[in-house]
Amino acid sequence: MSVRINPSILSADFVNLQADLERIATADLVHVDVMDNHFVPNLTFGTQMVGRIQDVSPIPLDVHLMISDADRWAPGYAELGAYSVTFHAEAATDPVALARRLRSIGARAGIAVKPGTSIEPYLELLPEFDQVLVMTVEPGFGGQSFMPETMPKLRALAAEVARTGLDVWLQVDGGISADTIGIAAEAGANTFVAGSAVYGGSDPAANIALLRAAAEASTHGH
Ligand code: DX5
Ligand code: ZN
Repeated sequence: MSVRINPSILSADFVNLQADLERIATADLVHVDVMDNHFVPNLTFGTQMVGRIQDVSPIPLDVHLMISDADRWAPGYAELGAYSVTFHAEAATDPVALARRLRSIGARAGIAVKPGTSIEPYLELLPEFDQVLVMTVEPGFGGQSFMPETMPKLRALAAEVARTGLDVWLQVDGGISADTIGIAAEAGANTFVAGSAVYGGSDPAANIALLRAAAEASTHGH
């Protein structure tokens, strides 16, 4: 079974972003963390910057919106051509209407939940989404420790995906490394975001290959 490795450019060098995008060309998608200093305490960039990343990236964009009022702002990221747009359940007034809007523009629609947010209310809405992101750290910063207590949510999602036969990707984000990726893969994740584990050290392509091999080894049998 194939897995997807999505490096997070939150750990890249923002002044040499084009070069750092080229260094992850063997990955599946580039994970772009949009933060508004409101939904999360940190601040990154908005549509203008993401549009330029879209222009120069060798691989498609997986946009993770950690912003308030997602209903208002998320469609703009789909309109600039992002392959995937994921908003937080906690930040959307009408997640189903927003997902439909994103899909109508041509993006894959994703919904994310923070570690403290239950997945139960969203299980019956799975047909409306292409991806569910289970945050494995509190959103806002790279380099935090993986929270294994989030794994029951992945197991519940994986069971629902298996039951329904839907093609919904299950993504994890936060503290994913060669040591933890197997835990998430075993619980049912198939799409893995990694920032420090990819850009740490001198060889992102080797780190991507290592993460991919570790995830595939633990996915065996799913
Ligand atoms: C955190 C971001 C992550 C972050 C992950 O809020 O959503 O995408 O870049 O960083 P690592 O992999 O270093 O935990
Ligand atoms: Zn992220």
